[in-house]
Amino acid sequence: TTLGASAAARDSRVFGTAVAASKLSDTAYTTILNREFNAVTPENEMKIDATEPQRGQFSYGNADRIVAHARGQGMRVRGHTLAWHSQQPGWMQSLSGSTLRSAMLNHVTQVATHFKGQVAWWDVVNEAFADGSSGARRDSNLQRTGNDWIEAAFTAARAADPSAKLCYNDYNTDNWSAAKTQAVYRMVQDFKNRGVPIDCVGFQAHFTGGSSYPSNFRTTLSSFAALGVDVHITELDITNAPAAAYTSVTNDCLAVPRCRAITVWGIRDSDSWRSGESPLLFTSSGGKKAAYTAVLTALNNG
Ligand code: G3I
Repeated sequence: TTLGASAAARDSRVFGTAVAASKLSDTAYTTILNREFNAVTPENEMKIDATEPQRGQFSYGNADRIVAHARGQGMRVRGHTLAWHSQQPGWMQSLSGSTLRSAMLNHVTQVATHFKGQVAWWDVVNEAFADGSSGARRDSNLQRTGNDWIEAAFTAARAADPSAKLCYNDYNTDNWSAAKTQAVYRMVQDFKNRGVPIDCVGFQAHFTGGSSYPSNFRTTLSSFAALGVDVHITELDITNAPAAAYTSVTNDCLAVPRCRAITVWGIRDSDSWRSGESPLLFTSSGGKKAAYTAVLTALNNG
């Protein structure tokens, strides 16, 4: 009868949503959140600029509020995100080289330690690969500290919170034939071969319309899963929320035993970062859209 309960009935999957701390006082919002979802991802509150606004001074108020709300409702938390080229505070943007490397690792250690035991999955590293056909790493101040910055972040996160599942998260990695998808696949394969601690891969799944959803998405999910990692759909939204595309994405996850989680990137259309695109499952006034019914039906029967 709800997204979370129906996902839980499918081999204990979770159905989550991005949550903004500023909306936890909106009862129309929390009514849907508490009824429908069994996992949350803080939309911005665990990012580097939010948690370490000044170097060495950590700020957890809004993130703690979301974690407390989730725990009070028995929801699990996806932490997002420990290391990213974007949303860096000014002090970090201005660092480079070994100073940046150690500041990044300290950030990973401090934040993962603060939330130890409370975050089920961490997006340890977010969006580290370039778009387009190169298959290269994205250029960033973090990448310029050395190609091993990603594995260093994962190793630090594992040491800080050994029971958290550690994920790599990216976008435009849904199409199995894309160079970016293949590049991330090779990194995960290499990490597994060399014993770098990685447990899961997140596919953001920000689709710009029914037609941008790739028919080989299921192949992507199952191919990564075959490397020995769980796969998550982490930030799902689809322009104009076509019911058929939402059904397909849900069925793709259900078809892959290691696809453990689907998270939509917001609750109501008015909560979405894609303003004017109506990409979510609930209307701005909180009504269930056709896409909601499609997802629930797929969870129950797909
Ligand atoms: O909190 C400030 C507020 O004080 C200020 O008045 C206002 C003025 O612009 O900005 C507010 O911060 C904004 C924040 O969202 C909260 O609303 C930032 O400017 C804005 O850049 C930020 O956007 C977020 C974006 O990531 C950038 O980090 C979106 O909410 C969030 O949905 C989006 O999420 C990302 C994932 O983390 C990674 N994958 C892509 C996804 C979509 O871009």
